[in-house]
Amino acid sequence: MANQYDVLGKAPGLEDLNKLSPNDVHLTIRGLNAGYGKMEILHNFDLTVSKAQSLCLIGPNGAGKSTILHSIYGFTNIFDGKIELEGNEITKLTPAQKLSKVGIAYILQDNSVFPDMTVEENLLMGGYIKDKQDEAYEEAERIFQKYERLRNRRNQPAKVLSGGERRLLEISRALVMKPSVLLVDEPSIGLEPKYINMVFEILEDLQKAEKKTIILVEQNAKKGLEFSDIGYVLVSGQTAIAGKGDDLLKNPDVGRLFLGG
Ligand SMILES: Nc1ncnc2c1ncn2[C@@H]1O[C@H](COP(=O)(O)OP(=O)(O)OP(=O)(O)O)[C@@H](O)[C@H]1O
Ligand SMILES: [Mg+2]
Repeated sequence: MANQYDVLGKAPGLEDLNKLSPNDVHLTIRGLNAGYGKMEILHNFDLTVSKAQSLCLIGPNGAGKSTILHSIYGFTNIFDGKIELEGNEITKLTPAQKLSKVGIAYILQDNSVFPDMTVEENLLMGGYIKDKQDEAYEEAERIFQKYERLRNRRNQPAKVLSGGERRLLEISRALVMKPSVLLVDEPSIGLEPKYINMVFEILEDLQKAEKKTIILVEQNAKKGLEFSDIGYVLVSGQTAIAGKGDDLLKNPDVGRLFLGG
């Protein structure tokens, strides 16, 4: 059945994806078929991302963007294909193993802050899975030093935080585990415009200064692509276009379909 996204053409090949992430490959997905229950959502999906690179997934509702993050983290049924981190297969690891053993963090964004717990207690929740509690405390301390907004509210209940500060706490909680890969689903959702830039500045610092690899889903395609080194346009569980963020911003089809141009 023809639809408005057919103009985007056929999926880019592996060579195209590898050209976008030529050095120091960090995470790869190859030939992934995955979904929920028996339903397959992602079809023969490939992804390549370099260390300290940022990749943004855009596409219409229901295309499977969140399902890609879920698959990397271990929340889906994987029928076929392979996920590797630095050349080691991690396809079948559980989310707890992903977080504590291989350093992949999934940042929850659905109001996951506990309002009556203090900011500090919320932050330390991020380390609950760490065998070495001392390390979690150390990392929490480093985060407080870095982010004044959290430091100033350290002993207050999290409900006093603004929307932007709350998002900062959600991101920081994932950092307690010192992950090398951050999976971030719609960081700007529900935020007032003044906080959206703040969240992207925080992500930029994590990528540039702390060398985190970031895989991001963003409904605000313009913001997401401006932020990211590379982007994939996902349609019906497959990549229709892959390119540098800047090039996708200039692509007329992407503009018309996703940037309101
Ligand atoms: N937990 C689940 N169980 C069953 N089906 C699901 C589940 N989560 C998502 N789906 C289905 O998988 C498909 C892809 O959903 P997904 O959430 O990955 O889309 P998306 O691209 O993130 O969309 P959106 O932009 O709306 O967030 C949809 O048809 C959705 O109904
Ligand atoms: Mg989604």
